[in-house]
Amino acid sequence: MSVCSRASMRMICVVGAVATMAFTNLGAAVAAPVAIKFSHVLSNDSPKGQTALKFKELAEKRLPGKVSVEVFPSAQLYNDAGSLQALLLGDIQLVAVSLSNVKKYTKKLQIFDLPFLFKDLEAVERFQASPEGRGLLKAMDGKGYMGLGYLHNGMKLMTANDPLRIPSDASGRKFRIMSSDVLAAQYEALGAHPVKKPFSEVFTLLQTKAIDGQENTWSNMWTKKFYEVQDYITETNHGVVEYIILTSSSFWSGLPEDIRAELEQVMVESIAHGNNVARTKAVADRKKVVDAGRNTIIKLTDEQRAQWVGVMRPVWKQFEDQIGKNLIDAAVAANSGP
Ligand code: LMR
Repeated sequence: MSVCSRASMRMICVVGAVATMAFTNLGAAVAAPVAIKFSHVLSNDSPKGQTALKFKELAEKRLPGKVSVEVFPSAQLYNDAGSLQALLLGDIQLVAVSLSNVKKYTKKLQIFDLPFLFKDLEAVERFQASPEGRGLLKAMDGKGYMGLGYLHNGMKLMTANDPLRIPSDASGRKFRIMSSDVLAAQYEALGAHPVKKPFSEVFTLLQTKAIDGQENTWSNMWTKKFYEVQDYITETNHGVVEYIILTSSSFWSGLPEDIRAELEQVMVESIAHGNNVARTKAVADRKKVVDAGRNTIIKLTDEQRAQWVGVMRPVWKQFEDQIGKNLIDAAVAANSGP
């Protein structure tokens, strides 16, 4: 006979069962939330920083107690290369890295570095929304990564200690670039010396004149104060800084279905927010740099621009086999508008 069937013990058993249920429910209620560390190399007020913070805000609001998001800006944890390794090791769960820094994992995404390929951010967006562009989000799948979306920063300018008006002005000078063979080829075509360095080192390299120049967006020029340590800015708009937001396939596929679906929606909304910030900052941060009055800003004449295009565009041919002509054609088509 079970002890619980005895009248004297019945009350104790009922109380025990209720206590066990309460304990079990309590256990479920206090189950640890899914911890998500989101690492990137820019400041909180950059398009990438604002995307990460929006993701934290929306994810924690929509999934209270189920997820907790920590954002680590300004390369506090890792630079881009380190963050890609840390993602696979499970030390972090989300990164937004420049597409110029992923060539080790796929050659196809090098398309975003081809000089004078996209005429503006709208063209980039059309390409990213095309079947070819959407397919590229999966280009790193086999390597353990999952692309959750693209994010803009802006069009690139060239800066230097001396004026850059025609391609030969860059000849013999040292330019910091991201870890991209296309960007290296672009500077070699100019007769310049490309120096691959992480973003976190750029300010000091410029300040100490270890390099002569670099290329970046208005937003990065302002938020990282590069304009303080360069005299000349040429509005080349020759390329783009675009990001891919990555997670690890094993982390993402291991999430409970309902949490994953909500986080995917949150990511879509966070990217839309970040893209708006990018558009606003491309104008507002340009104005801040201009108003600071420290730089000579060079606008290229049509004739000068044609010279830069003439020297740099042959780089496309060099990388056509690695990237795929079909992708390049789709990107060129995206310039024509809807
Ligand atoms: C760089 O120059 O490395 C950047 O454009 C990095 C970034 O994330 O914007």
